[in-house]
Amino acid sequence: MEYRKHAGVEVSALGFGCMRFPTREDGSIDEAETFRMLDRAWARGVTYYDTAYPYHDGESERVVGRWLATKPREKVVLATKLPIHLVKEPSDVERIFQEQLDKLGTDYVDFYLLHAMGAERWEIAKKNDVLAIVSRLKAAGKIRKLGFSFHDEYPVFEEMANAFDWDFCQLQLNYMDVDDQAGLRGCELAAARGMTVSVMEPVKGGSLAAPPREIMDRYQALQPGWSAASWALRWVSELPGVAVVLSGMTTMAQVEDNLDTFDTLRPLTEDERAAVAKAAELYRARTVVPCTGCRYCMPCPMGVDIPGIFKIRNEGAVFDAPASAKGAYGRMAEQSRQTACVSCGRCASLCPQHISIPERLAEAHAYLTAE
Ligand SMILES: NC(=O)c1ccc[n+]([C@@H]2O[C@H](COP(=O)([O-])OP(=O)(O)OC[C@H]3O[C@@H](n4cnc5c(N)ncnc54)[C@H](OP(=O)(O)O)[C@@H]3O)[C@@H](O)[C@H]2O)c1
Repeated sequence: MEYRKHAGVEVSALGFGCMRFPTREDGSIDEAETFRMLDRAWARGVTYYDTAYPYHDGESERVVGRWLATKPREKVVLATKLPIHLVKEPSDVERIFQEQLDKLGTDYVDFYLLHAMGAERWEIAKKNDVLAIVSRLKAAGKIRKLGFSFHDEYPVFEEMANAFDWDFCQLQLNYMDVDDQAGLRGCELAAARGMTVSVMEPVKGGSLAAPPREIMDRYQALQPGWSAASWALRWVSELPGVAVVLSGMTTMAQVEDNLDTFDTLRPLTEDERAAVAKAAELYRARTVVPCTGCRYCMPCPMGVDIPGIFKIRNEGAVFDAPASAKGAYGRMAEQSRQTACVSCGRCASLCPQHISIPERLAEAHAYLTAE
């Protein structure tokens, strides 16, 4: 296992993401199998464990807490996150934090993050004095390092990064998501601000683990022993400022595979980097709508989430995953879907990519609702 400094703390370069534990038929965590997987990761050198208040409907923190009790606390680097959307008044912050400590069976958290930050949640944090409160918890020794995880556009990241002396941040990065959200620019700004980065969704939530044949053939010609997930993990682990790559592992086979990857980590060769670039190009060539998510078309007067729908449509085609795209569309609020569109055309007149938006929205809706 490779070890790196994350905000000055030595951590394993592979972190265990505690959001995708194996579950039983009723959706509850299969605790025995989860313990086996956590124990295996621990035995092979993983020291960083990343959970959050809402994971597995609040049960992830409890399971991690029970597992933590079986290990020397000071050797485990524990990360969890404040559910900012539940903060209605300043006193909620300490109340939630204490609830988390109780669930985790510990009296301190190593890495504490404001969870899934974006413009709206940043406003909640400012309104409720959250940074002053978590800073006090840090000064009292209950939090070792402070950071935030991020899911919005780069300008919001820039504002947040520059507004406080953060120790670290958590970004969604993988070889397909380089311009999305904070993206590679976010990595650069983090480094300039003295923050190290933990990476989430390095395998794009599993989408890069099962690539189309043409991509897999290229990979195997170069490294027959590497899984597609391994290629994605290796690529992201090399980005500047990345200290820990979090993987949400669901099976023991995935744990073993990812441990093998981090046991044999070395810089990618030029040919290997070219293979990843080609894979990204092939994935992108399958893109159906040339929307870049610039949001010039927004806000839609009818409330349609135009870039959101195109993103889901594209992911369905790029990853050959119509079922998961339909699921994502089904979970969108009714008023954000294409059915609210009145074809006024305002969006198309603003689109720098010259996309015929109302027509393409109709096509996306047909694909995303096809029986
Ligand atoms: N703070 C936030 O806002 C936020 C958001 C997202 C994630 N996170 C954190 O970041 C962690 C990592 O994100 P993620 O779970 O989305 O990571 P990810 O590695 O992109 O996706 C995990 C999925 O990838 C697949 N996978 C992983 N290793 C594999 C292997 N060796 N072979 C085949 N498939 C493999 C599995 O998919 P299948 O199960 O489909 O096989 C697994 O469930 C999370 O667990 C969580 O702790 C935080």
